[in-house]
Amino acid sequence: MKKILLLGSGELGKEFVISTKRLGCHVIACDSYQGAPAMQVADESCVFSMLDEQALRAAIAKYQPDLIVPEIEAIRTEVLLDVEKAGFEVIPSGRAANLTMNRDRIRDVAASLGVRTAKFHYAESVEDLMAHAKAIGFPVVIKPVMSSSGKGQSVAKSESDIQASWDYACLGMRGDRKKVIVEEFIKFEFEITLLTIRQKNGGTIFCEPIGHVQERGDYQYSWQPQLMNHESLKAAQDMAAKVTADLGGAGLFGVEFFVTKDEVIFSELSPRPHDTGMVTLVSQNLSEFDLHARAILGMPIPSIECIEGASAVVLATKEGRDPTFQGVDDALSERGVDVRIFGKPTARPYRRMAVALASGPDALARARAAAAKITVQ
Ligand SMILES: Nc1ncnc2c1ncn2[C@@H]1O[C@H](COP(=O)(O)OP(=O)(O)OP(=O)(O)O)[C@@H](O)[C@H]1O
Ligand SMILES: [Mg+2]
Repeated sequence: MKKILLLGSGELGKEFVISTKRLGCHVIACDSYQGAPAMQVADESCVFSMLDEQALRAAIAKYQPDLIVPEIEAIRTEVLLDVEKAGFEVIPSGRAANLTMNRDRIRDVAASLGVRTAKFHYAESVEDLMAHAKAIGFPVVIKPVMSSSGKGQSVAKSESDIQASWDYACLGMRGDRKKVIVEEFIKFEFEITLLTIRQKNGGTIFCEPIGHVQERGDYQYSWQPQLMNHESLKAAQDMAAKVTADLGGAGLFGVEFFVTKDEVIFSELSPRPHDTGMVTLVSQNLSEFDLHARAILGMPIPSIECIEGASAVVLATKEGRDPTFQGVDDALSERGVDVRIFGKPTARPYRRMAVALASGPDALARARAAAAKITVQ
């Protein structure tokens, strides 16, 4: 039985724990607060900040895991690089965790591999930002290099927006580096997550592309399969295979692309299950969590089958402890609809608390209708 140390215990971690428990693993779920979603289904839990080097080292030393599985970006990843050298297995690799912790590092990797990205530059002051924005051409997207879920991200339409974008990015920054990425605004037709699986005993394989819509930098709904032409899909798969090969290791990656009329542009990547991929809980024979589990355990993945499916998030609207959910029965009364309530102990405006899932014809409309019936109190 493999012992897994899960770093980060959100809703994606929770489903991952369920998948690994089904395959007989022992899981220690870690996060900075007690009662996090994945802790509710794991064998053991451990509360500490994963940015705290000493605490992270202590947890690894205490549990002696066979596999260290990051679920979030905000981890003292230097520790992972270190323990990997000492013989611990980091999923998918210490390098992947380290390079994806900050946007600039993974972007530099993609660019160095010749992968098409939006035009971009880094800026460490508002003057710098103004100069690069003008050179790229408005509108531009500005993101802190260390942040996730759209925090600190904005679009500057003209020079007069730059100061506000800089201030907003500084507020949303994680860590101590005042550094932003400023990039060309891509007028995409749609954007996709291409779930890409690197196997221990097999080649790199892909799920059907997942389409999604984002608001405030956070995904609102997703669907699978996103139809796209063969050449564009092939281009995305080639880029995903290239970047994930550079990162190394085994596991599932969520590779994000923008798709325009005539090209496919790499955006970013998660070396772990992706939030837009929650749709696979109903649209695939093996969900992204099952696939991640099999890949890291070196188990076979003979085939991935996909039917039409969709997911839509349920957000909280206010602060509160031990939230309750109204309208779940109503949502579930529809055929082919399912709901996952994450069990987060506290709510705050826009916090993702549950997801509605639907499969079959018109899955997207039905998932969105189901999510709209549910309120968080
Ligand atoms: N250059 C761009 N042009 C147009 N839209 C963009 C651009 N960059 C980001 N976006 C939009 O903002 C969304 C979030 O951006 P991105 O994925 O880089 O941020 P994030 O904070 O890492 O989000 P998450 O962690 O939820 O994936 C994208 O999915 C896309 O909809
Ligand atoms: Mg993203």
